[in-house]
Amino acid sequence: MITTIGVLGAGQMGNGIAHVFAQYGYKVILFDIAEAQLDKAVKTIGQNLERQAKKGAISEALVVDTLGRIKVTQAMEELGNVDFAVEAVTEHEPLKLEIFRKLDGIVKEGSILASNTSSIPITKIASATNRPDKVIGMHFMNPVPLMKLVEIIRGHATSDETFAQTSELVAKVQKEMAVSQDYPGFIVNRILMPMINEAVFALYEGIATAEDIDKGMKLGTNQPMGPLTLADFIGLDTCLAIMNVLYDGFKDPKYRPCPLLVKMVNAGYMGRKSGRGFYSY
Ligand SMILES: NC(=O)c1ccc[n+]([C@@H]2O[C@H](COP(=O)([O-])OP(=O)(O)OC[C@H]3O[C@@H](n4cnc5c(N)ncnc54)[C@H](O)[C@@H]3O)[C@@H](O)[C@H]2O)c1
Repeated sequence: MITTIGVLGAGQMGNGIAHVFAQYGYKVILFDIAEAQLDKAVKTIGQNLERQAKKGAISEALVVDTLGRIKVTQAMEELGNVDFAVEAVTEHEPLKLEIFRKLDGIVKEGSILASNTSSIPITKIASATNRPDKVIGMHFMNPVPLMKLVEIIRGHATSDETFAQTSELVAKVQKEMAVSQDYPGFIVNRILMPMINEAVFALYEGIATAEDIDKGMKLGTNQPMGPLTLADFIGLDTCLAIMNVLYDGFKDPKYRPCPLLVKMVNAGYMGRKSGRGFYSY
C-alpha cells in the first residue's frame, strides 16, 4: 500500500506535486539540493492552500493537515522508505540519469520510481536503474493543483502492475490520466508544440499580427488563450527545447523549429519570465 511519497525537486512542479499528494492524505518527503528552494516551496504550498481555502474549495483544517504531512530534506538517503517516488528535478538528461541511478540504490525494493520529465525518454531513465519494470512517466501539468490531467508514460519495460498502481494513485488525487507510449513529446507536447511552432511561422511569414493569430485561434477554435500567448507563458526557451526533442527524436523536418523562435530565444526574449516574448510584460 502506498502511504509515503518521495518528491525529488522542489521547483515549480515539485512543490505542486508535493501539495497535491499531501492534500489527499499521503505523507510526503520533499527533497532538493537547494535549501532556498525547499523554503520557497513550503511557502508557495502554504499560500496556494490558503487561496484554495479562501475560495471554499478546501477547509482551513485541511490547510494545516496538508502542511503537517510535508517534510523537507536535503538528504536523498531519507527517501529510503518511501512507497512511491516522483522525480521533478531540472530537465537535464545526465542529471536525471544520475538521480535515478542513486535513487535506485536508496529507495527500498518494490517501490515505483516515476519521472515528471517533459521530454526525456522514460525507457532511457529506466535503464539507469536495476528496476526498469518499476519506472514510469508521470507527467503532471502546470499548475499542478489546478490542472486535471496527468500523462502516464509507459517505458519499454514498465510492468502492468506498475502501471496499475500508478493509475490508482492518479485516481486517488482526483486527476484524470491519458496514457502514452514512450515516444518524443508523448501526447500533449507532440501536438501542442507543433501548433505553437506553426503560429510562430505564421508570424514569421507575415501572414498576420501576433494579436490576430491569437485572436483567430482563441475565438475560432475556442481555446482559453492563443498559441503565442501560451508560448510566452510556457517560456520560449522551453518551447524551442521541446521542438528540438521532436525534431531530433523523429528526424522529421516537419518538426523544424521556426527560425523566428530560435532568434527570439537567442535575443533573450523568453516570454513572461523575461518580461518580453511575443508580447511585453
Ligand atoms: N514547468 C512546467 O511547466 C513543467 C510541466 C511539466 C513537466 N515539467 C518537468 O518537471 C521537471 C521540473 O521542472 P520545473 O519547472 O519544476 O523546474 P524548476 O527549475 O522550477 O525546479 C527544478 C528543481 O530541481 C532542483 N534540483 C536541481 N538539481 C537537483 C539535484 N541534483 N537534486 C535535487 N534537486 C535538484 C532545483 O534546485 C529546483 O528546485 C522537469 O523535468 C520539467 O521538464 C515542467
